Amino acid sequence: MRVDYGEPEDLDVDDLADGWCSLAQQWLSDAIAANLPEPNAIVLGTVDEAGRPATRTVLCKDFDADGVVFYTNYDSDKGRALTATPYASITFPWIGIARQLTVRGPVARVDAETTETYWRTRPRGSQLGAWASEQSRPIGSREDLAARLAEVTVTFDGIEVPVPPNWGGFRVEPETVEFWQGRTSRMHNRIRLRVASGVIERLQP
Ligand SMILES: Cc1cc2nc3c(=O)[nH]c(=O)nc-3n(C[C@H](O)[C@H](O)[C@H](O)COP(=O)(O)O)c2cc1C
Repeated sequence: MRVDYGEPEDLDVDDLADGWCSLAQQWLSDAIAANLPEPNAIVLGTVDEAGRPATRTVLCKDFDADGVVFYTNYDSDKGRALTATPYASITFPWIGIARQLTVRGPVARVDAETTETYWRTRPRGSQLGAWASEQSRPIGSREDLAARLAEVTVTFDGIEVPVPPNWGGFRVEPETVEFWQGRTSRMHNRIRLRVASGVIERLQP
């Protein structure tokens, strides 16, 4: 399968002159406008304590100059990997508009207040689901999972569902940010920002 990405308006180093966030916001808006499914989905790459990489999709819930935030179970495989190796790579794979954005850098947990604020925006069903699931651990059957959900539904009946103690946000703090734009004949545009030094470079495709 070979797709010709055509000749979109060229991405250049000047496009990052105002920092990376405004262009990232523009590209996210473009992905939404293009009706891409889950435009805020990111592929998250982590490395565990044995040096083995793993990837999975999560949803980016916020990003700004401080980094890219997603929420998860801290005791999940990714949570454990990030505790052992607090460094990650995230990619927005906006394939439908021939773009991708990758942010790499150290990872830190967001503060409890930020997690709480986001948690309150989640539907009750998702909140209960987070309590019911020991994410990444085996479970015998679908019925066992349903029983756990029924249990926590009773536990929190009539009251606000609190944030589980092992649940919250991680922020990937940008060390490098790379914008990729597909171009015809594989002459793609790749512009990388090294945040600490402010160096912006074009990379070969
Ligand atoms: C579109 C999509 C969005 C997802 N969003 C999240 C998310 O925001 N947080 C999360 O913990 N898992 C999310 N998942 C599930 C993860 O991909 C993964 O299965 C789960 O977090 C367990 O990963 P782990 O075992 O590597 O820790 C999402 C999956 C898909 C396909």
